[in-house]
Amino acid sequence: MPRGAPNCFGPNEPHPLWLESYTPPAKKFLRMNNPPPRPLLAIAAMAENRVIGNRNRLPWHLPADFQFFKKTTMGHILLMGRATYESIGHPLPGRTTVVLSRQPRQLPGVQIIPDWNALWDIEPEKKIFLAGGASLYAQALDQCAELFLTHVRSAPPGDAFFPAFEHLFDQGKILEETPEFTIRHHLRLNHPAHSAFTL
Ligand SMILES: NC(=O)c1ccc[n+]([C@@H]2O[C@H](COP(=O)([O-])OP(=O)(O)OC[C@H]3O[C@@H](n4cnc5c(N)ncnc54)[C@H](OP(=O)(O)O)[C@@H]3O)[C@@H](O)[C@H]2O)c1
Repeated sequence: MPRGAPNCFGPNEPHPLWLESYTPPAKKFLRMNNPPPRPLLAIAAMAENRVIGNRNRLPWHLPADFQFFKKTTMGHILLMGRATYESIGHPLPGRTTVVLSRQPRQLPGVQIIPDWNALWDIEPEKKIFLAGGASLYAQALDQCAELFLTHVRSAPPGDAFFPAFEHLFDQGKILEETPEFTIRHHLRLNHPAHSAFTL
């Protein structure tokens, strides 16, 4: 609502919830419908400046973090946006790769889904890991039960950012620590659907 528009609080009064700094989200960042019928587990790596990507690539090369990603997601479902899939370029072995795209496409070894609703019936015995990129985190991070977040100790230039999560999740248990990064397992605060996932 534009500032000062007539509303139930009186003509030309600013709505009390109006935030001076509020910017409507871009259309591609509209959130998913909630709540999700299955727990979602987010997995990501974020730099100190919240950067997660640059020109559709990861801005770092951290083999130990790749190993953690592999071991954590192995045997489960990896859900990613079309741009992230293109940056990887192929399905990751041992996992079910599901790609969100609004365009009809066919990619060998990949399940393309046109919206979130098509996700929930896929291989119900497996866990669903939300693996990015920025637009998917922005849509669904607030619906995730858990967050595996690699806190990278650098501040590279980038054009893809991780959304605010600190108000949604606890401070996290440290799973791995190296000079380059710390991996924390954050649990969603007050979430009814915490999975029994353990490493
Ligand atoms: N550091 C990390 O942990 C991490 C992890 C993953 C990715 N990344 C980085 O993140 C960046 C990519 O993020 P991004 O936001 O540009 O792209 P993205 O989220 O990977 O993909 C965006 C695309 O996903 C599809 N999509 C998104 N929401 C949809 C919905 N609700 N329904 C149907 N389709 C939907 C659309 O594809 P169509 O255009 O085909 O319709 C959209 O253009 C890259 O730099 C990548 O390296 C970083």
